[in-house]
Amino acid sequence: MKLQYRTMFHRYILIAIGTLAVFTSCNNHRQSLTAEVMPDSVDYNFHIRPILSDRCFACHGPDANKREAGLRLDIADSAYQALKESPGMHALVPGDPMASAVYLRITTEDSTQRMPPPSSNMTLSAFEIDLIQKWIKQGAKYKPHWAFVPHPPRHP
Ligand code: HEC
Repeated sequence: MKLQYRTMFHRYILIAIGTLAVFTSCNNHRQSLTAEVMPDSVDYNFHIRPILSDRCFACHGPDANKREAGLRLDIADSAYQALKESPGMHALVPGDPMASAVYLRITTEDSTQRMPPPSSNMTLSAFEIDLIQKWIKQGAKYKPHWAFVPHPPRHP
């Protein structure tokens, strides 16, 4: 009788732990779904600009004094141009990630080539890299910053 009671107790504990595990894994799953759902259409302002502005523009942005390799990634025209330091290469080739220096530099295993440089202590997550890859595949389209997009005309 005593033995039976004990196994019952064990069983309760197991069920409790099991239920907890299922709950927490569901929870994690939901969190990662909301945070990292690959969008059908990758949007420059919404998905890409925040990443580049956070981890690339410090060295490839508007500030000419801090610009590295003469490369500017915040403006489409400059990003599509032939690279100054790598003739024949382009930072972005719309539709072709494997031909885009940006994609090659963020995915390379070679730490001396890697962007952002390891010395900057900045990294891109696998999801962010996938987003950039898809954005390039879909044409690497820049859009004016939302604050500068004119409102559609109002109809009375
Ligand atoms: C802390 C400064 C710094 C940051 C941040 C940085 N870069 Fe760079 N980048 C450099 C330097 C320095 C070079 C030139 C040396 C080299 O080619 O590795 C360079 C070169 C490049 C080149 C090659 C240019 C050429 O002419 O060949 C590309 C492409 C590039 N970076 C992309 C990026 C991208 C994309 C990001 C953000 C994910 C980024 N970089 C973030 C400093 C930076």
